[in-house]
Amino acid sequence: MLTQQSDSTVLVIFGGGGDLAWRKLVPALFNLHLDNLLPQRFAIVGIARKQRNDTEFRQHLREGVDLFSRRKPATEEIWNRFADHVSYLSDDITDSASGPALSRKFEEFEQAWSVRANRLFYLAIPPDMLEPAAAHLQRIGVCRDCTRDRLVIEKPFGRNLASARELDRILTGMFAESQIYRIDHYLGKETVQNILAFRFANSLYEPLWDRRYIDHVQITVAETVGVEERGGYYDQAGALRDMVQNHLLQILCLIAMEPPVSFDADEVRNKKVDVLHAIRPIRPEELHHVAVRGQYGHGIVEGTARPGYRNEPGVAPDSPTETYAAFKFFIDNWRWQGVPFYLRTGKRLPTKVSEVSILFRPAPHQPFPSAAVENWQTNRLIIRIQPEEGIITRIQAKQPGTRFLLGPVDMQFRYRDAFMAVPPEAYETLLLDVIKGDATLFMRADQVECAWKIVDPVLEAWESIPPGDFPDYPAGSWGPEAADHLIASEGHHWLQPVIKTGENA
Ligand code: BG6
Repeated sequence: MLTQQSDSTVLVIFGGGGDLAWRKLVPALFNLHLDNLLPQRFAIVGIARKQRNDTEFRQHLREGVDLFSRRKPATEEIWNRFADHVSYLSDDITDSASGPALSRKFEEFEQAWSVRANRLFYLAIPPDMLEPAAAHLQRIGVCRDCTRDRLVIEKPFGRNLASARELDRILTGMFAESQIYRIDHYLGKETVQNILAFRFANSLYEPLWDRRYIDHVQITVAETVGVEERGGYYDQAGALRDMVQNHLLQILCLIAMEPPVSFDADEVRNKKVDVLHAIRPIRPEELHHVAVRGQYGHGIVEGTARPGYRNEPGVAPDSPTETYAAFKFFIDNWRWQGVPFYLRTGKRLPTKVSEVSILFRPAPHQPFPSAAVENWQTNRLIIRIQPEEGIITRIQAKQPGTRFLLGPVDMQFRYRDAFMAVPPEAYETLLLDVIKGDATLFMRADQVECAWKIVDPVLEAWESIPPGDFPDYPAGSWGPEAADHLIASEGHHWLQPVIKTGENA
């Protein structure tokens, strides 16, 4: 049972006027407020360059809450109570004269509360601003208490292994590692956390969870959206940095990790990092057997015509950036030797769905007549991360009738039916963890570095050889043909994700 936090807390959002604060962070804080989970003495300070007063800032945030909160719109009375905790500071962190205003803010709150508050700094700013922001905080000396002051950093953490190491060197020169919260919002999703519960709170599947019974694993994170207003950022990042290096590899870790001894933050993170260490390094000469990139051209997504990526605002007209990436990974350890893990993610795919499919090996012997097994499929366990959250076990059953015919059927658990509740948004869980000082669901420096080590050879190769065939998949399709060949070479095919419950692939 979650209870209201007792520590007095000031949360400062750098990039307070930006999209992340508007769409995700403040709606999440608003929901925590509705659930009475924020500390009684709590303040949110948005910082950005733009000049505006508290009233204008609050009005802007309210629009975001009314559009994006899972409990929208906000009622006047509750919003006003929440808005009392919110203020705005116009400040330019690159200006060496800036800073005193923020220090004064802390003094004001802490004098009023008669206590040194926990100070949390959320860096919701472009990657190239992280270092100046951290240096600014160090210079003005507001983030010095290793136990009470925390820094939250959005992904991607660096652009590659070398820059991530450099960023770490700089940050850990200024702050203790325990103060640095590297956020990957997928780890806050209820269904992603449920992978841990499913695997380690049940004994049913664990004996089957290895190379003897599992044929292969598919992880799909498909989006219908393009790059929206983020063309400038995305064109420098691409799917590999934006999704694979973090979200998809983190999901893979949760599927493949060994049971932790406890839920201690370091223990869980140690087990995850072991998986990353065991992923077979990609050799440049075999790149095209294990990795595929793609970029969408114009097409129709969910009935609406969409422009190609190169026509999106903020994107270069001859951009070589990938909007789709697929991988075949092998994990070289005792449990997973020889089991392919296929990962794919892309923008402007036919539907928004994130799921993990575990494909079990076929039954060793088929005693049924050949006509009986025409629709036969191997057992499949589907962990549905979104939009419909739950777990499906697909088994074979006799179809009703006088003939003996087999067909696939689903046994399923759906969050919304089982618990009659809408799960919190990932950012609610993660912000509350930062407030509490629980880093279990955040990435440690070595995890981030390991993940870069895995994708670095691919980044280098893709950057050095421009794609000759972009755009190579129409918006609204399941990605480039090369992704089918990637997996067909092992005798597999991409499974149609379960879009509506009960729909069979
Ligand atoms: C973000 C990426 O981390 O995750 C976005 O930067 C992507 O490009 C988003 O759209 C997807 O998150 P979700 O929670 O909608 O699956």
